[in-house]
Amino acid sequence: MIRLSVNIDHVATIRQARRTDEPDPVWAAVEAELAGADGITFHLREDRRHINDRDAELLRRTVQSPLNMEMSIAPEIVKIAAKLAPPIVTLVPERREELTTEGGLDVVKLRAKLKPIVKKLRDAGCATSAFIEPRAEQIAASAECGFATVELWTGGYAHAKGPAKQLAALQALAQGIEAGWQHGLTVRGGHGLTYRNVRDLASLGGFEELNIGHSIVSRAVIVGMREAVREMKRLIDSADAVMDSDG
Ligand code: PXP
Repeated sequence: MIRLSVNIDHVATIRQARRTDEPDPVWAAVEAELAGADGITFHLREDRRHINDRDAELLRRTVQSPLNMEMSIAPEIVKIAAKLAPPIVTLVPERREELTTEGGLDVVKLRAKLKPIVKKLRDAGCATSAFIEPRAEQIAASAECGFATVELWTGGYAHAKGPAKQLAALQALAQGIEAGWQHGLTVRGGHGLTYRNVRDLASLGGFEELNIGHSIVSRAVIVGMREAVREMKRLIDSADAVMDSDG
């Protein structure tokens, strides 16, 4: 079974549209867990555009499933993460002007900077994950830096136009999955996944967990968080079943 970690950032985005106190991403996390989410993810961005420090603290205290904090490597954020000590931290690239995380972290280029950060977070008790593009050199560098997990950027597949480009993106991910496990890393995936495109991706097999946010929160606005999470879990589980019966 592939696990589903639900990213609740955009519940906070709706709250911040009015700078009020609703909807509460902490409540959304509870709802997602009650519907069977296998984990909860949030991104404490440097500009605090959605999740804020209060949310991070309350999520840490209330979430029962593995809590995954996405974060940049800015010293202020690393300090907060080491103090909060969520069970998982995922290091991502972050730029102010972007709408959402674009592409993966360049672990090859940043390796000297990353090594002490990975150590600091590990010493704080966090399992560390690198959000990277599915490229052999990025995977090897992630293993070298001491990450336990890689989360492969699935945006290349999600944004691919037409079946040929989608297939090429899926093949790149399949190679990335294999390379990741060969390096002793746990392999996860995320970004841009929706109710329409998740099944083909899940059918690749090999992902331990998928991390999905925007599409689930969007559906939750219409049908409620519990139903939105249940539907996504059903789709992922049915893709598993296709793989199993195909052998
Ligand atoms: N994984 C990572 C590392 C991300 O930064 C994001 C976006 O915050 C996601 C997964 C979820 O992407 P989406 O909101 O497109 O499902």
